[in-house]
Amino acid sequence: MYENLLTVKDLFVKYKSYWYVYHVLDGVSINVKLGEKVGLIGESGAGKTTLLKSILRVLPPQGKITNGEILYRDVNLLNCSKQQLLEIRRRKIGMIFQDPLAALNPVFKIKEQMLDIIKYAHENSGMNKRDLENIALDLLRDTLIPDPERVLNSYPFELSGGMRQRVVIAMALASARELLLADEPTTNIDVTIQAQILKLIMDLVKKKGLSMLLVSHALGMVRNMTDRIYVIYGGNIVEEAPTSKLFKDPLHPYTRLLIDSAPKILSSTLGEGIKGNPVDYRHPPSGCRFHPRCPFCDQEICRRAKPPLIEVDRDRYVSCYLYGGGT
Ligand SMILES: Nc1ncnc2c1ncn2[C@@H]1O[C@H](COP(=O)(O)OP(=O)(O)OP(=O)(O)O)[C@@H](O)[C@H]1O
Ligand SMILES: [Mg+2]
Repeated sequence: MYENLLTVKDLFVKYKSYWYVYHVLDGVSINVKLGEKVGLIGESGAGKTTLLKSILRVLPPQGKITNGEILYRDVNLLNCSKQQLLEIRRRKIGMIFQDPLAALNPVFKIKEQMLDIIKYAHENSGMNKRDLENIALDLLRDTLIPDPERVLNSYPFELSGGMRQRVVIAMALASARELLLADEPTTNIDVTIQAQILKLIMDLVKKKGLSMLLVSHALGMVRNMTDRIYVIYGGNIVEEAPTSKLFKDPLHPYTRLLIDSAPKILSSTLGEGIKGNPVDYRHPPSGCRFHPRCPFCDQEICRRAKPPLIEVDRDRYVSCYLYGGGT
C-alpha cells in the first residue's frame, strides 16, 4: 500500500471582492500517494489553480481558506509554523505555475533567479557560489536546454517561450525533491513543442522519483502521464478513478461530456463543448452544482442536496445520484 504524501480534506476556499463572495472550492478532498502521478481535470474556472495555490499557501489576498485540512506527510500546512512552510516550499514541493512568465523576473538574469532558489534549497550545506552555479547548470541540462551557460547569463526576454518554459521547469525542480505540482505546464508555449515539454516533465519526474499532481486541458497527455485522475466541476470533485478506467468508462455525466468534448486527434470534427454556463460562484446552484447543465437531472434530490462521493467500484468514486447516495 502507498503512503499518502499529500492529503487535502474537505477544503473550502472563497474569494472576496468588494461586492461579492465567490464560493469556489466546496469541500474538496484529494490525495497523492508516494510515487504516484495524479491528474486533475475540469473546464476553465473549475478551481484547479485555486486548489494548487491553496496547497502551497500562495493564494492571492482575496482568497481565503475557510475550512479543511492540508497535510503534507504529517505536517498540517494550514497551521504549521512559517519556518516549516518555507522548508516544504524550498525543499519538498515544486510548482510549475500556469503563467510561467510571471514566475520569472524580467530585470534579473536567469542565473540570479535560479541561484536564489537553489541557495535556499541547499541551505546549510556549505556550498559556495561555484557549486550552486554547477547545480543550476545541471538543472538546465536536465531540461535538455541547448547551451545552458548562455541561458544562465541571459535575461528572460532574450529567450524564446520554449526556453523560458524549460527554465521555469528547472526552477520548479530545484525545490521539488518529493512532489511536483504542475499547473497547465504548457499553456503559453507553441503547440508544436507542447508534447515535447510534457514528455520532458514526465521523464524528469521519473528520473528523480517524484510524485506529481498535474493539471492539464490536454486530456490525451493526462491520460499518458498519470495513474489516477480527479475530475473537478465547479469547485467539487465529481469523480475519481484510475486513469485507464476513467477514459474507458467515464461515469459522471460531466466526465462523459468533458471527454466527449475534447478534440479527438483522429476525428475531423471538433468536440461540441458542454452546453450551459459554468457555475456562478457568487450564487452556486443548490444540490449538485452540475444539475443545471446535466442531461440526466430528473430527480428533485439533484436540486436539493449535494450528492456524496461514493465508491461504486474498486478505487472508483463518483458524486452523482445516478449511482446511488440518495435517501
Ligand atoms: N482573485 C480572485 N478574485 C475573485 N475570483 C477569483 C480570483 N481568482 C480566481 N477567481 C475565481 O475562481 C474560479 C476558479 O479559478 P481558477 O483559476 O482556480 O480556475 P481554473 O480551474 O484554474 O481555470 P483555468 O483552467 O482557466 O486555469 C474562477 O471562477 C475565477 O474567476
Ligand atoms: Mg488555472
